[in-house]
Amino acid sequence: MVHIAIFASGTGSNALKIIDHFRNHSSISIALVASNKPGAGVLDIAERKNIPSLIIEKERFFRGDGYVSELKRRNIQWIILAGFLWKIPTSLIQAFPGKIINIHPALLPKYGGKGMYGHFVHEAVIEAKEKESGITIHYVDEEFDHGKHILQLTCPVEDTDTPETLAKKIQVLEHKHYPEVIARLINENLKIEGI
Ligand code: GRF
Repeated sequence: MVHIAIFASGTGSNALKIIDHFRNHSSISIALVASNKPGAGVLDIAERKNIPSLIIEKERFFRGDGYVSELKRRNIQWIILAGFLWKIPTSLIQAFPGKIINIHPALLPKYGGKGMYGHFVHEAVIEAKEKESGITIHYVDEEFDHGKHILQLTCPVEDTDTPETLAKKIQVLEHKHYPEVIARLINENLKIEGI
């Protein structure tokens, strides 16, 4: 079994889609939901879905071992970020090379970086009168929203769109594609490793 940890700070609608997608999967299991926010909605989802959860504390995350020992102890092989707002420390990136994935609700490299999350992204896109936006699924490196792209998908931005209507369109794309992309990446990796 390949064990995945989902890292999320917010409501967790993507986390929920991923959890449901891999429920009863023959070779992939969501083994942990980790959050830096004790009251985050994603933790309720984990509880409801009977998935172990973990609160990530700042000191240990950034100045300790980045929770590497904890994740290894739980046999985690992949880390999926789904609305996780903290930067991933080098210790964690080095311990999981090529195995940490993020989704961003815009077409990177535009509208990414620190502070560019949630409604801030969609407001900036509308403000700039972009004709299209979309999603970027990418590997995580030491910089915010920066690693190698895995997939980008676009959607039109109409003159009548508001940050809220655009957010909805983007969310549809995220929910449809993130779980499938995760499954594809893990399966390809299993083939490469010959498992
Ligand atoms: C998503 O838009 C994702 O692209 C971003 O954070 C948001 C998380 O939303 N990285 P949710 O908590 O999954 O609803």
